[in-house]
Amino acid sequence: MPRYQQIARQIKQAIGDGELAAGSRLPSSRTMAQELGVARATVENAYGELVAQGWLERRGQAGTFVSPSATATASRADLASSRPQGAPMPFQMGLPALDAFPRALWARLMGRRLRLQTRYDLVMPEATGESTLRQAIADYLRFSRSIDCQPEQIFIAAGFQAAMRLAVRTLAKPGDGIWLEDPGYRYVRPVFADAGMVLHPVPVDDEGMQIGYGLDNYPQARFALLTPAHQSPLGVALSLARRHQLLDWASARQSWVIEDDYDSEFRYHGKPLPPVKSLDGPERVIYAGTFSKSMFPALRTAWLVVPQQQIAAFTRQTRHLPCTVPVLIQQTIADFLREGHFWRHLKKMRHCYSERRVWLENALSKEGFEVVPQEGGIQLVMRVQGDDRERVAKARAAGLAVQALSDWRITPEGAGGIVMSFTNVVSEEQAQRYARRLRQAIT
Ligand SMILES: Cc1ncc(COP(=O)(O)O)c(C=O)c1O
Repeated sequence: MPRYQQIARQIKQAIGDGELAAGSRLPSSRTMAQELGVARATVENAYGELVAQGWLERRGQAGTFVSPSATATASRADLASSRPQGAPMPFQMGLPALDAFPRALWARLMGRRLRLQTRYDLVMPEATGESTLRQAIADYLRFSRSIDCQPEQIFIAAGFQAAMRLAVRTLAKPGDGIWLEDPGYRYVRPVFADAGMVLHPVPVDDEGMQIGYGLDNYPQARFALLTPAHQSPLGVALSLARRHQLLDWASARQSWVIEDDYDSEFRYHGKPLPPVKSLDGPERVIYAGTFSKSMFPALRTAWLVVPQQQIAAFTRQTRHLPCTVPVLIQQTIADFLREGHFWRHLKKMRHCYSERRVWLENALSKEGFEVVPQEGGIQLVMRVQGDDRERVAKARAAGLAVQALSDWRITPEGAGGIVMSFTNVVSEEQAQRYARRLRQAIT
């Protein structure tokens, strides 16, 4: 689709979503062109087409406006055709910046891998994951996370849940207890419940999971799953004292700590704390990483680092739960890492996210929302008084994909909040529009 049509489609989408209200003024074609990085004529073409279709109207020197009848024009069919399938909704969580991934480079690397394949690449892949990728991840972890491990300790899996399934199948038995952060990442809980494990909610404060609470209430648990770098969703880091407390417990009880390091690459100020895995003298930590945030989630590629003594047990279980990530994808990720593209991409993304985050934080504060300060991660939390679910339902009805903090909790107590992502907010102006729309929807 030509670029001007893509732009026209996005504007129609914004009108249909209520993001651009009837009668509101559009940025000048020059400003819009600068923002989108396209020629001014491209924006002029897009505006021209929408004027011809009745979505926009020109008012001479005053500029281009959304025509008063435009929202009525936005029939369901128009809207369906104007949102590309899979396009993120405003504030949609769990996604990196989709506009910023170097897709042309990715296509080149993958094409090269495909051309280099021999007939012997057509055989059954390694159940533990491709050795080239395991080596590339081991090198990356050594330099960026101070984790010293051998490629044999790394197991590739089709996403974090699949990685957890492998860990549970290898190490857990029905009835084993597991500490889970409350609030915490909810989509993985069924993996433990399905394995007959007992879920122990452990509250989170501004130093991360309250390890003391776990020790007092469920000392006998055999597992603890946490997001120490930026707690999901609150964004706090697990303090160093608690990291040691956790490891002491695991070592004394011979329990397992599962460190979910899903987005540690994104920290905007301050010095990062070392991963729990890097402090793991007693070898009680299973470290989990994913390329979903640092690259993109459609890769479905995550990995575990397991202690040396567990390599054989994990390898045995891969017969039942083999790695299902296509070889071509694994090899291309390995090239992306080995050739330095991953570093460059992360550097670019740190800058991109710190900018987008500030845009949205400022815009939300201007609308009177209380944003909780966070040092890293790719999501934001706002405090709200009263029923957060009710507010979120209103926001969602207005097409805003925010989530209620209460829905991330295991136990019903605790303050309410609104959780959202800023990664796909592409301009300051868009941040302001989204924030305004959110306020209008929920207040
Ligand atoms: C806390 C947390 N852990 C792990 C993941 C990674 O999941 P996956 O590798 O399945 O994309 C996510 C993704 O949203 C997450 O939020």
